[in-house]
Amino acid sequence: MINKVVAANWKMNKTAAEAQIWASGLIESLDEIPSDVQVIVAAPAIYLRELGQKFRDQPRVKIAAQNCHHEQKGAYTGEISPSMLRSVGVDYCIIGHSERRSMFLETNELISLKVKACLEVNLTPIVCVGETLAERESGYHYGVITEQITAALTFANPEKPIIIAYEPVWAIGTGISATNEQAAEMHALILGLLAQYNFTNTPVLYGGSCNDGNAAALFSMPGISGGLVGTAALNIRSFVRITQSFS
Ligand code: PGA
Repeated sequence: MINKVVAANWKMNKTAAEAQIWASGLIESLDEIPSDVQVIVAAPAIYLRELGQKFRDQPRVKIAAQNCHHEQKGAYTGEISPSMLRSVGVDYCIIGHSERRSMFLETNELISLKVKACLEVNLTPIVCVGETLAERESGYHYGVITEQITAALTFANPEKPIIIAYEPVWAIGTGISATNEQAAEMHALILGLLAQYNFTNTPVLYGGSCNDGNAAALFSMPGISGGLVGTAALNIRSFVRITQSFS
């Protein structure tokens, strides 16, 4: 089981040249990254194949897509399937990021189908869950997370690995991360839900304004296996410092 994970989510950032510079920077920095930390790079689809080749001899670095379709093939213009991702060496796929839930209207039901499609081809889903500020302020954050986790696990199976990322929507890209206690409370809730479905070895990452200043405190909290990092991962030096933030 992997229990220290730092995943970079580039979102829709970096030209091909910038992607190469970042990836070369990571290879040059691998000696500085603790050997028990799994690094995952979630890049735009257009760069995945090249990145996969670049990190082919680096087992500590895995490549992730940021999204996929819920079918393996067919007449879905513009879409990319889990089996296509597998065929170019991708091991992970972010599913249900809050930006996709809110801007691309992805529902819990669709997300459950995407998880199913990923697992069919052994593409490990990194399923994002998180409440909005309004949901938290109305005390409904426990309910939202319970619904999102329950849906995500509909077609999952403890035999096949899965990663969960708790990303409070109000903390993403805002510079205001959850407090250590808020994050730990929600991770405990998620781990309890996972245990009910017999998922006992599932890493739960924290995401939402995680950076090289707050990662050490967040990662030291019980139930937090690492981070899914957006803004602070765009710079390779700050990303490397985050990988060094486990105690
Ligand atoms: P952020 O993004 O680190 O910029 O808040 C995290 C994410 O959306 O995965």
